[in-house]
Amino acid sequence: MVTVCLANHKGGTGKTSICINMGAYFAKKKTKTLIIDMDPQGHVAPGLGIEVGYDDRSIADVLSNQEDITTIIAHSHIKGLDVAPSNIRLSLVNETLYNSFKRERRLRKAMDKIYKDKTYDIVIIDCPPSLGPLVENTLMVVDYCIIPCEPSSRSIDGLADFILKLKDVREGELDSKWNIVMSRVKKSARLTNEVIDEKLSEYKNRIFKTKIYERESINQAQMAGIPVFDFPRGQLASENFTKFGKEVASRCQIK
Ligand SMILES: Nc1ncnc2c1ncn2[C@@H]1O[C@H](COP(=O)(O)OP(=O)(O)O)[C@@H](O)[C@H]1O
Ligand SMILES: [Mg+2]
Repeated sequence: MVTVCLANHKGGTGKTSICINMGAYFAKKKTKTLIIDMDPQGHVAPGLGIEVGYDDRSIADVLSNQEDITTIIAHSHIKGLDVAPSNIRLSLVNETLYNSFKRERRLRKAMDKIYKDKTYDIVIIDCPPSLGPLVENTLMVVDYCIIPCEPSSRSIDGLADFILKLKDVREGELDSKWNIVMSRVKKSARLTNEVIDEKLSEYKNRIFKTKIYERESINQAQMAGIPVFDFPRGQLASENFTKFGKEVASRCQIK
């Protein structure tokens, strides 16, 4: 089993969209997949057509030691794609974690059962836009970290902070295990894209060859609660995520 997260403390860089569509890509090629949502906004489940209310069981109950992770897992309509959903109660748990002993190890402990059961080939974790305990918990369990980055100066300026966090939490263990994916790239913005490539030259070898392009269908599919592969006008986005999925599989050694 390989565990990969989508993380960046900036919001709106495409973390959740990539999680959902990358999860669907792997499940469709028969790689048994679990997405764990670590963001209190809880957008993963509805993005796959699963509604989760305030009182429903969620990863909040797992991190507060009240539920076993296997009891909160929901099956999506895609065979082989399961979700450990989140909801807004996770923000309350996040607050309590700040003052908890071994606060960064809750998810690791919760995932023991998943490692033991060997139900999944890949676990994909969606992170909140922060550098707080929920992200620390995630970085403690991952084999690889993918950082979606939007082609804007602001997004790039924040990258160094996130990379520092990555080094800090696992004391360098993840140094060779993180990559950047350029996300929400507008094909028409040629000049901007050139400037951004130049600005990111120090990370050149870290950047996925496949970029995720800005496409209406990605947004619409998410609103419809389905991945782009099942969206009627999602062909170009599907091709994009297929290419990306293949590159993830080869970089992260996923079968
Ligand atoms: N490549 C894309 N093309 C078009 N819309 C996108 C794309 N990626 C994300 N979006 C939309 O932008 C918004 C923020 O994306 P999201 O994936 O939720 O970002 P994050 O999880 O990093 O905050 C969502 O409404 C989503 O549907
Ligand atoms: Mg998100």
